[in-house]
Amino acid sequence: MSLPKGYLDTEALDIFAKLLNNIKQRSYDAMSIKKGHKVLDLGCGPGTDTVPLGLLVGNQGQVIGVDYDLAMLAEANQRAEQAGVSAWVKHQQTDAASLPFDSNYFDACRSDRLFQHLPNPVQSLSEMVRATKSAGRVVIVDTDWGSLSIDTDEIDIERRYARFVACSALHNGYSGRTLCRLFKQQNLTDISFEVFPVAVTRSMLIRQATQADRTEQDAVAAGVLSTEEVQRWRGSQAQADAEGVYFASVNIFLVTGRKPE
Ligand SMILES: C[S@@+](CC[C@H](N)C(=O)[O-])C[C@H]1O[C@@H](n2cnc3c(N)ncnc32)[C@H](O)[C@@H]1O
Repeated sequence: MSLPKGYLDTEALDIFAKLLNNIKQRSYDAMSIKKGHKVLDLGCGPGTDTVPLGLLVGNQGQVIGVDYDLAMLAEANQRAEQAGVSAWVKHQQTDAASLPFDSNYFDACRSDRLFQHLPNPVQSLSEMVRATKSAGRVVIVDTDWGSLSIDTDEIDIERRYARFVACSALHNGYSGRTLCRLFKQQNLTDISFEVFPVAVTRSMLIRQATQADRTEQDAVAAGVLSTEEVQRWRGSQAQADAEGVYFASVNIFLVTGRKPE
C-alpha cells in the first residue's frame, strides 16, 4: 500500500495503540458514553477504537468510524466482525473535511491522531461540532511534534530533524498545542485538557512515527540536513539502540469540549 503524507500502516498503528492505551481509555471516559449512544470516530484507522466504543454503546447504540484509506476500513470491518459488534459498528470512506451526517446526530465525537495530518483542521473540527448533539462531547487526541526530543550527542542535527518533522513532514505537526484554541474558537464549553508525555525506548518506533526514511530524504532535499549528517544521525540512533540507552519523548494532548445547548 502506498501511503500519503505521514501515515502509518496497520501494524505500526497497533504498536502505538498499545503504547497509548491509557490515553485512549481516558478519551472514552471523556466522551461520557452511555449504552445506546451514537458516536463517531474520525480517522478511525484499522478500528483501534471503534471496536471498544462498540462495546461501550452496546447493541442498541451505533458507532461510525470514518477514514479515507480503504485498506484501513477493510481491516476495521474485519475486526468489528471478529469482535461480534459489526451489526452496530460501521466504517465508511469519508474525508474528514466534509462529513455526510446530519447536524446534531451524534451523542459524542472523537478523533485520535488524525488532526496532525489535516491541511485544514478548523474545517474538520467545525464538521465534528456540527454533527454532535447539543451538550454532546467532542474529544480530540493529538500529537505535538514540536515537543519531540531524542537523547543524542548530535544535538544540532536532532533539533533540525525534530523541527522538520513538526513543520514539514506532516500537514499539522504542532496539532496538540493548537487544540485548546481551536475548541474555544468553535465556542465549545467546559473545555478541559490533559497532556501526556510518551516515552519511547526503541528508535524504530520514533523512526516509524516520523516516517524517518522519507523525512530524512526530504530534509536533505530541503537543505535542512546533509547526506553526511543523515548518516551520522542514523548511526547515533543505531548505537543508542545497541547500547540499550535510546530514549525519546513526545507530548500527546487530549482536549475535551461540550457543544453549547
Ligand atoms: C495516525 S492514524 C490514527 C488511526 C486511529 N485513529 C488510531 O488511533 O489508531 C491517522 C488516520 O487518519 C486517516 N486520515 C488521514 N487524513 C484523513 C482525512 N483527511 N480524512 C479521513 N481520514 C484521514 C489515515 O488514513 C489514518 O488511518
